[in-house]
Amino acid sequence: MKIVLLGPPGAGKGTQSQMLVKTFNFLQISTGDILRDAVKNKTELGEKAKMYMDKGELVPDEIIISLIEDIIYKNNKKDMNIIFDGFPRTVVQAQGLEKLMENYSDRLDAVVSMNVKDEILISRLTSRRICPTCNTVYNLITTPPKNDEICDYDGTRLIQRDDDKLETVRNRLKVYREQTEALVDFYKKIGILKEVNAECKPEEVFKNIVKALGLNS
Ligand code: AP5
Repeated sequence: MKIVLLGPPGAGKGTQSQMLVKTFNFLQISTGDILRDAVKNKTELGEKAKMYMDKGELVPDEIIISLIEDIIYKNNKKDMNIIFDGFPRTVVQAQGLEKLMENYSDRLDAVVSMNVKDEILISRLTSRRICPTCNTVYNLITTPPKNDEICDYDGTRLIQRDDDKLETVRNRLKVYREQTEALVDFYKKIGILKEVNAECKPEEVFKNIVKALGLNS
């Protein structure tokens, strides 16, 4: 099964992907995580992506599509159950994915659209903290660490993502509305869109997604 988690920044795509990976046999492909790793390791991809990410803009479509082809189809992952987290993000990327899948006789099974209003998204993103050692994601309001901004697992001081500062968050939401939201209609027309309420607690959102996808947990 191959699914897309579609939603604005802070909708909980990463959180729900992790829960789906733990419960079912999925491989999570987060273009955001891959790009952040590339930036951290100063690879050629990271050098190209950094200036877009710092501003909350999207990385060019052709870079992303060839990245996906490399990861899945050139690395023999075609037969795995995959969650696309944060991809596709433009109609061009969605069309690129369709074409890629067609070339490799593959198909997308479902797209889950996660709906959350802006004020909740802003609150979630500006209070997100991450452990730079083990990558555990916390939220200072909803899922805080036991000790002030220190990772529960390895004692590392938590950090804030550069693009989670309020001004960049606002731009990311604008970019989402302008360039990504059109995918809701794109996938509705194809007939594989499932809409879920993602404003509730993570466990409730998870139940909504499992039900929408017809999975048995
Ligand atoms: P990316 O990393 O994909 O960021 P995003 O889509 O903006 O998503 P986030 O990771 O911010 O949010 P999320 O929905 O995963 O929420 P999370 O679960 O973490 O992309 C970053 C950048 O990379 C882009 O701006 C772009 O430059 C580039 N990029 C990436 N993919 C690209 C592509 N395909 N094309 C071009 N450019 C690309 O949760 C957020 C917070 O909320 C956490 O603190 C969490 O604990 C909390 N939370 C989650 N769920 C709940 C809940 N139900 N209730 C309460 N709190 C919750």
